[in-house]
Amino acid sequence: MNRRYRKTIIAGNWKMNMTPSQTKAMIEELKPLVKEVKWCEMVLCVPFVDITTAVKAAKGSKIAIGAENMHFEPKGAYTGEVSADMLKECGIKYVVIGHSERRQYFGETDETVNKKVKVALESGFRPIVCVGESLDEREQDVWSEVVRKQVKIALKDVPVEDVKKVVIAYEPIWAIGTGKTATADQANEVCATIRECLRGLYGARAARAITIQYGGSMNAKNAAELLSKPDVDGGLIGGASLKPNDFHAIIEAANQ
Ligand code: PGA
Repeated sequence: MNRRYRKTIIAGNWKMNMTPSQTKAMIEELKPLVKEVKWCEMVLCVPFVDITTAVKAAKGSKIAIGAENMHFEPKGAYTGEVSADMLKECGIKYVVIGHSERRQYFGETDETVNKKVKVALESGFRPIVCVGESLDEREQDVWSEVVRKQVKIALKDVPVEDVKKVVIAYEPIWAIGTGKTATADQANEVCATIRECLRGLYGARAARAITIQYGGSMNAKNAAELLSKPDVDGGLIGGASLKPNDFHAIIEAANQ
């Protein structure tokens, strides 16, 4: 973390977990635990059907609510999809874009990610843009090229005045839900590479203001070490964000 230049952001990504009643219970349990948090922003990205409940439950706290995806078209014949305007009216502040599970199972590409990022920014949301290499790409030592390409295409035509609202989440696919975490040095190396790529695109000032999270089996035990690295500005947390105590412990590690 480097709070002199950028915000620390801890975001939960619930994926396809939690019903509305479970959402209410979880947030009500979390709220008192995080009352005194000062130094990090807290976000919960939840399934569409939980958003209204989550926004209501989080009222009066510093927890912001986000979506896990959205469509780039404003409306129309896209059965099963949800638009930015719909989400805006529900009160979200963040939206996860291009998670590797969406790329892998739902055909998302760097190009659709770019369209969604632009619509999210136009709608006043902060997009959390996920990038990261596969195990094979890591073993072939092409992770740098892979994440640079993902970042460049995701941010195509995003102007410098908007890019500071973008959060990048570095999520190595081999670390997601596997219990295998990148070492703190590995995570920092990739986050620093992403920042260098941002510097090339937007200049040093903008690049140092952008929050870059790590995600992939981040938990109460390893969070402090990951967050101690200068280019790791927060986390995108899957499994551990479903339990109030675990999520709180990660938030505390970021609040130091
Ligand atoms: P995990 O998921 O923390 O369960 O590994 C992270 C993510 O996919 O965002």
